[in-house]
Amino acid sequence: MTSGRAMLAACLLVSGGWAGAQATVERGRAAYQSGAAACARCHGRHGEGRREGAVAAPALQRFAGQKADLDSLRLAVNDGLSAGRALHRLMPRYRFDAGALADLSAYLDVLGSEADADPGIGSDTLMIGVRLDASVVPAVQAGFARINAVGGIYGRRLVLQRDPGAAVFAILGWGRDLPPDTPSIAPGAGTGAAAFGLLPGSEAQARFMLDQALAAAPSGATLALSAAADTEPDTVRVLQARAVARGITLVPLAGSHARGNGAVAVLSLGDGAHLAGVAHKVAAVPIYALAMQAGSTVFVLAPDAARRLRLAAPAALSYPGAARPVQERLALGAVAILVEALKRSGRRLDRETFVHAIEQLRAFGVDGLPDMRFGPNRHVGAAGMLMVKVDPARRSYLPYTDVSEENGN
Ligand code: HEC
Repeated sequence: MTSGRAMLAACLLVSGGWAGAQATVERGRAAYQSGAAACARCHGRHGEGRREGAVAAPALQRFAGQKADLDSLRLAVNDGLSAGRALHRLMPRYRFDAGALADLSAYLDVLGSEADADPGIGSDTLMIGVRLDASVVPAVQAGFARINAVGGIYGRRLVLQRDPGAAVFAILGWGRDLPPDTPSIAPGAGTGAAAFGLLPGSEAQARFMLDQALAAAPSGATLALSAAADTEPDTVRVLQARAVARGITLVPLAGSHARGNGAVAVLSLGDGAHLAGVAHKVAAVPIYALAMQAGSTVFVLAPDAARRLRLAAPAALSYPGAARPVQERLALGAVAILVEALKRSGRRLDRETFVHAIEQLRAFGVDGLPDMRFGPNRHVGAAGMLMVKVDPARRSYLPYTDVSEENGN
């Protein structure tokens, strides 16, 4: 009895102690990597040191395993002294109290070690999450197997992680629930500082579609919008504000009004079935939709509706000579971007370096798609959009506007 209770107490102590240690490391990490102190700016993300013009901010690894040596850390950080020498004035003089110094010291202890790595990075594995259509997952898996067969990347095998709760370094695909610092590479760009896409995301595509409808509408006119139930409320709000700014009213399409509430055009946001429903209800006026959402339904609409159809499509999809289905080309393109950016990031991998590496890709060739170009303010590799009509007899699209590049991220 007694020993059982003693054991329990010991466990509680240990786990409380562990959680406390984690918290102090996390506070130290925050102080080192960001915030007002931002030591990483000069001493490097991993404490590897960095040149600041003529002066070198030294590597800080010597502080690892020095938990007890708070004094020399305090002297350097608060008083600018190292072994009795006054440090160059490039090294700021801080006002860290004892608690903050202890946090910093606890973090310097793990700085640059494996315990300091971003999620999903192992010594010989790299976890990559997937949020792509199930139909393309085998192709992605085969792509990973090819990389792994030649030793992976810097000795790490790529592991496709399908469990959405697992720790991953980056994601192929995108979801609104992703933490914003998880890098993602998706067919259509998501939103967030670490989100990349080969093509514009669905909201950007919808904006382009609206702009085309607005350009064709006389000022003061009304447009009608029919958004499927799964449309993001944000997207609808964005479109409404954009229409208002151009002096045009965007009203919901009421089911009972065959002519779309007197609207001069109707916009459909939703899959093929949704578009078919809209086409059935609305007579006489043009119907705008997104080619990628509507899929092959556009080729089987009644001829009268098909003639009035205006589809917004990513220009990249009209790229000729593609043998594989488009979803597969996009998924493999995402894999190619992932692999290239990992190679450029080096063995000492972190998310910040990885995101930066994608932003450096210019004219990056992807099988069956036009070259991808990224940049710090450009997270869509092939940003162009254009409008197409359908040719039901040939089951193909007919372009009727030039490619527009205005529609960035
Ligand atoms: C603006 C750039 C800059 C920032 C920010 C900065 N340092 Fe420094 N640090 C330096 C430079 C440069 C030196 C070397 C000065 C010298 O050798 O005279 C230095 C020296 C040091 C030293 C002495 C190293 C040794 O081996 O004696 C320590 C410790 C240190 N910095 C820790 C930190 C910590 C911790 C932070 C954040 C709280 C920080 N520094 C933020 C530039 C910076």
